[in-house]
Amino acid sequence: MSTFIGSLPERKDVCKVTFTNSGKTVECKPYANLRQVAIDNEIDLYNGATRIFNCQGSGLCGTCTVEVTPQRGISVKAAIEKFRFLLLKGNLRLACQTQVTDDIVVTKHGGIKGNKGYKQQGAKEEMVRMYQDDGKTLEEIAEAFQIPVPKLVNILGDAGVEMRRPGSAA
Ligand code: FES
Repeated sequence: MSTFIGSLPERKDVCKVTFTNSGKTVECKPYANLRQVAIDNEIDLYNGATRIFNCQGSGLCGTCTVEVTPQRGISVKAAIEKFRFLLLKGNLRLACQTQVTDDIVVTKHGGIKGNKGYKQQGAKEEMVRMYQDDGKTLEEIAEAFQIPVPKLVNILGDAGVEMRRPGSAA
């Protein structure tokens, strides 16, 4: 029993959120909504006219899209984000649908939605880290990044990752 409790991740009282575009780092309580954290700290998550014309956090417009690293510092994608799989590749998330659970770094890219110029390189590195260091399963990582397991296997293989045998310890 104590072994199980000892293996649980440390529960944080405060999470640090760094917004790279503004260079600000702010603090919030665990499970705070990322969009609300930005609003409360007067950090702009929108590009151009979408500052005014957005869905106000209902997950419909996609204009609050941001890159978040690491993915383990935020909630898993909700159904409304999974539905936006063409927009939300790699580490891209809808700020309005994301809860902060650990220290994270947030970057807004270009374009109306905020995904223009985003490159998935960081996402690939994080997939490797989750598999090798965190001991996550292929299914867990594929779920987090919304990609099929065979594609994930290819990505890890290209990165030179030695695959664990099914059922082996992490
Ligand atoms: S504010 Fe519209 S999807 Fe987040």
